[in-house]
Amino acid sequence: MEKGSSNPPHVLIFPLPAQGHVNSMLKLAELLCLSGLYVTFVNSEHNHERLVRFTDLQVRFSQYQGFQFKTVADGLPVEHQRTGYKFLETFEAMKVVTKPIFKEMVKGITPSLSCIIGDGASEFVLEAAIEIGIPVIHFRTVSSCSFWSYFCIPDMIKAGEIPIKGSEEMDRIVTTVPGMETFLRCRDLPSFCRVDGMSDLNLQVMTNCTRQSLRARGLILNTFEDLEGPTLSQIRRRFSNVYSIGHLHEHLRKKLIEPKHQTHQSSNSLWEVDRNCMSWLDKQPSKSVLYVSFGSLAVTTKEQFLEFWHGLVDSKKRFLWVMRADSVAKRDGEAEDYPPELVEGTKERGLIVEWTPQEEVLAHEAVGGFLTHGGWNSTLESIAAGVPMICWPYFADQQINSRFVGEVWKLGLDMKDVCDRKVVEKMVNDLMEDKREEFVRSAAKMAELARNSVSEGGSSSHNLNCLIEDIRLMIG
Ligand code: UDX
Repeated sequence: MEKGSSNPPHVLIFPLPAQGHVNSMLKLAELLCLSGLYVTFVNSEHNHERLVRFTDLQVRFSQYQGFQFKTVADGLPVEHQRTGYKFLETFEAMKVVTKPIFKEMVKGITPSLSCIIGDGASEFVLEAAIEIGIPVIHFRTVSSCSFWSYFCIPDMIKAGEIPIKGSEEMDRIVTTVPGMETFLRCRDLPSFCRVDGMSDLNLQVMTNCTRQSLRARGLILNTFEDLEGPTLSQIRRRFSNVYSIGHLHEHLRKKLIEPKHQTHQSSNSLWEVDRNCMSWLDKQPSKSVLYVSFGSLAVTTKEQFLEFWHGLVDSKKRFLWVMRADSVAKRDGEAEDYPPELVEGTKERGLIVEWTPQEEVLAHEAVGGFLTHGGWNSTLESIAAGVPMICWPYFADQQINSRFVGEVWKLGLDMKDVCDRKVVEKMVNDLMEDKREEFVRSAAKMAELARNSVSEGGSSSHNLNCLIEDIRLMIG
């Protein structure tokens, strides 16, 4: 912001082009708009086109003075699937293609920028901004516990704790992540720490990105003090300006119901939301439905899919299952022949849809449990709704999230490294029936703490206000 200019501070926000990143950073963008800041939101061309096609994004944001969308190429061919492990090709593609475009864009933006809120998972934003001389605040859309484990990867390598060489090591306790020495096992580390998942790119991206956050002006973490206080204390020993701001959805909802705002909250989905599931839920008994969703990136094999399907049907519980078109890896020419008894069982008690309004589904009276991959947005949304979880982590931060859900927060069951119809059936029955009471009690308590953090004077509200004040003090 030029000295003496009358414009409000102007912030550029740039997420990694993935649903879980776009979702939370768009919510932050809207909260900054509601606080009177000018915001430029930079999306990939691919994702912006999908958001415009499937949501009322443009109408919603047209209400805010000083708001604009900008788009950049993500460096991947249009037909690239952008999910599963192939999503990881995004990092290299963006470094080569997006970085030069982004630098030119930032130099030409008016009014001049006060700061950039960049996704801490993308390496080049901080470098580009420092070259241009604009302050950067990093936003990490993952949990604090996963962020801290990424930060400690060099120490784990130095101590010879990773790479994890084989299955016999998986239950060995990891001693070089401060604060987690009593419960963190090798199998709970980010999947990139395993010898089959520890490609140089993955490790370099996760480690470099996390360590380079030390050079940012501040670090926003999508969490709240009552949930991750011990880990946040560890992080604050190394990072000076840490803003724990969780439940952006709830912050937004509270601000949007204020009479002066004419807009309403709607989805930031990259897929078309099928709202028929809501009327299906309306017909189900209270807390009788297990909601099943593995996020926007996970891709299961056909064998894994069938193990889940058999387990769900054999559990005799009702289920609402999100199945994106690319959720199950298909081998060339493979027939879609699913066992007839499973189709029958699904018709009787299950509903499969491509994409749901997830926050509304989790808040629905009929939903009693969530079989999730442990993606951080899904985990936070389940915590806010007070819904117990079964976590089947796919990759990245999900392994450690599921360990905290099962072992530390006691909010559900950790189905890590297992995909067996008998285990699925047993865990579904434990969560929905046999062990239900213990999980419902702890989930209700944590949901209350989440609500408190977003209330007036709560930790998330306080940190959001501090962030906005600190941005106002930044002279670009
Ligand atoms: C990715 C990583 O996988 C995740 O671990 C990391 O924490 C964030 O980036 P993703 O796998 O998509 O995210 O999972 P998650 O973080 O849970 O984000 C998924 C988002 O999509 C959630 O906000 C969820 O509400 C939304 N969603 C999912 C829908 O709106 N409808 C659906 O049917 C499924």
